[in-house]
Amino acid sequence: MIDKLEKTLAALLRTILPESHYLKAVEGYLPHKYRRDVRQRRLTDIFLFVTNRCNSRCRTCAIWKKRPPVDMDPKLIEKIVNQLEYQNLRFAFLGGEFFLHPQYQQILALFDNRPQYFFVVTNGILTDRIVSAARNSRLKSVMISLNGDREEYSRDRGVDAFDSVLSTILELKKMKVKVMISYTLNRFNDKDDFLFVEKLCKENDLQLVPVFYSEPCVLGVAGAGYQHYNQDVLSAISSSCLTDKYHRIFYEIYHEWLEGKVSLPCQSIFRQVVVLENADVLLCSHLDVVLGNLHQAGPAEIWTSEKTIALQKEYSRCNRCWSECHRVFDLTIHKGKYKKQAEESRA
Ligand SMILES: C[S@@+](CC[C@H](N)C(=O)[O-])C[C@H]1O[C@@H](n2cnc3c(N)ncnc32)[C@H](O)[C@@H]1O
Ligand code: SF4
Ligand code: SF4
Repeated sequence: MIDKLEKTLAALLRTILPESHYLKAVEGYLPHKYRRDVRQRRLTDIFLFVTNRCNSRCRTCAIWKKRPPVDMDPKLIEKIVNQLEYQNLRFAFLGGEFFLHPQYQQILALFDNRPQYFFVVTNGILTDRIVSAARNSRLKSVMISLNGDREEYSRDRGVDAFDSVLSTILELKKMKVKVMISYTLNRFNDKDDFLFVEKLCKENDLQLVPVFYSEPCVLGVAGAGYQHYNQDVLSAISSSCLTDKYHRIFYEIYHEWLEGKVSLPCQSIFRQVVVLENADVLLCSHLDVVLGNLHQAGPAEIWTSEKTIALQKEYSRCNRCWSECHRVFDLTIHKGKYKKQAEESRA
């Protein structure tokens, strides 16, 4: 009942408020909701890496180098969707490039008559496929990666696709699809690139999600490690009016975390999992900790198994990554403790 009310209210606010106002309107409520999710071990987010095919050549990610191509069987996704019919479970489809999965339309069609929220994270290069998917399926939320201007694009992502990405963003926006922009701060971009992306988001009312370069096991990169960044770019990101207060703390105390001065328990693992194209279910995107394999057990069985519960407990003090999709959640829960640290780092 409470879930239904929450959903209805959130949907109403989303329709009547611009994106940045919506985020501010709900932020005060989030700690309460997140603590409840953790207490109940409520699975709310499932990240599916459906293919390792990719048409980009990003220097921060090694997925495009993977051979042979492996695609998740849509039947497996159907099994997940059928077995985890919780109203509040959100599905995120990633890869590789989702729109290169040979059966991406079949995957989207699984949601035709289902209520669950899902979104796709894409490099945005295949404009026609993406726009047509948004037209012909229930795909109404898309996250597109953009780390800077045209020059930065080819330096960082290794292909000349800036125009296609921009045109995907604008076409989807015209169709009233919710477009989120994922901006990865890394050693190939700077403050001007962030300001470029921020301006684009402001002008088009897009949600901006800045993240830090990291080395998740799922991307197959290792070597450069977490970077130190110029304070200018970090201040620009944390003071952006397009980020909510929990994200702001996340950016403000990044260097302190890097220097070992922040010890933040990991709670996000109690409500989200990652599934790889080979059907392995991982504890999180950063560690190669396998909870089970969907060819051998059902998703609900894996989620409720003693092994999963024990691994979640074991890693609940883990502080090894500063990944936006895991750690902003943790900061939201523990915000009081880290707010002071963030204020001091700002001063
Ligand atoms: C692995 S990609 C998969 C989806 C799609 N291919 C794309 O690029 O959007 C998911 C997100 O990770 C970001 N990313 C790439 N390399 C990264 C790294 N080393 N650390 C953190 N995020 C990274 C991408 O920019 C993208 O927003
Ligand atoms: S970040 Fe995305 S687009 Fe770039 S290589 Fe990795 S999977 Fe491909
Ligand atoms: S803090 Fe540890 S367990 Fe939590 S998401 Fe990061 S690497 Fe995974």
